[in-house]
Amino acid sequence: MEKYYWDTQLEYLKRTRDLYYNDDYLEFLVSRVWKITKPVHIIDFGCGYGYLGLKLLPLLPEGSKYTGIDKGQQLINQAIEYFHHLPYDAEFLVADTNEIALERKYDIVVCHAFLLHMFEPKKMLQTMVNAIVNDGKIICFEPHWISSMSSYELEGYEQSQIVPLGILQKLFEKNSGKDGNIGAKVPRYLSELGVKNIECRISDKVNFFHSDMNQQDKQKLFHSLKEDGVGGEPVNKDQFIESLQKRGITIKEAHEQFEAELLFSQLFNIDSSFIYALSMKITFGEIKK
Ligand SMILES: C[S@@+](CC[C@H](N)C(=O)[O-])C[C@H]1O[C@@H](n2cnc3c(N)ncnc32)[C@H](O)[C@@H]1O
Repeated sequence: MEKYYWDTQLEYLKRTRDLYYNDDYLEFLVSRVWKITKPVHIIDFGCGYGYLGLKLLPLLPEGSKYTGIDKGQQLINQAIEYFHHLPYDAEFLVADTNEIALERKYDIVVCHAFLLHMFEPKKMLQTMVNAIVNDGKIICFEPHWISSMSSYELEGYEQSQIVPLGILQKLFEKNSGKDGNIGAKVPRYLSELGVKNIECRISDKVNFFHSDMNQQDKQKLFHSLKEDGVGGEPVNKDQFIESLQKRGITIKEAHEQFEAELLFSQLFNIDSSFIYALSMKITFGEIKK
């Protein structure tokens, strides 16, 4: 049987999560913005290996509980292994979030880099909202790819040479039914679903890759960036052009995109000076029944 895709992506997930937030920022969100002062039961949709739980539980009041749901058995096995060694109350379910019926009993529902993999993200948001108790919260950390791409800065080159935003704008809009810009739409969707007091923030971390870093940090960041697709070499030009054309890009633009990605893959190396910010949108609101 073919392995579930995300079960093959454990290493990618583990190597890239550090690119998103500084720990002090998450601490700030928990204590100053969301003002969570009492123990909460939190559920994480598409939890992977439990990244958000591992980050949030040390910041939440003692007695809080974490439930993680994911379709990937291997990912859940890793989450169980991590939490086995920690003093937190946690449980994990291997399940498809399109098919589960959850009780309305959670104080907080969260997701991280999850809705962008949904064909019907608003429907999923409704399922999430339905699981939250009155006065509870929904918190979605979702990407806004075009905003992330606009943060690229590689020393010595114009941004337009390596990241032609115009073409990318069109490509991200036609992404085989899924939406990598979903982060910027979640506020509106939540409002349409009746969620109150909606606010949206942005991830704080700007990764600065440069020659002055200590070697170990530099290697680690370089591999995280590569793993996240930064400077990846485009392969098979014909297929590349064809797949872009299918997404509404002209042949000329597709060639330009190929050349830009090829150039970037050739330029970006361990000696580069480079800036990269994920620019995740963090949308949150309250359930008032
Ligand atoms: C990009 S990963 C993010 C994982 C984790 N939230 C993180 O940030 O490390 C997307 C996750 O969503 C999960 N997922 C996607 N569709 C799902 C579904 N229908 N039901 C449950 N999990 C799903 C995948 O298995 C994968 O672990």
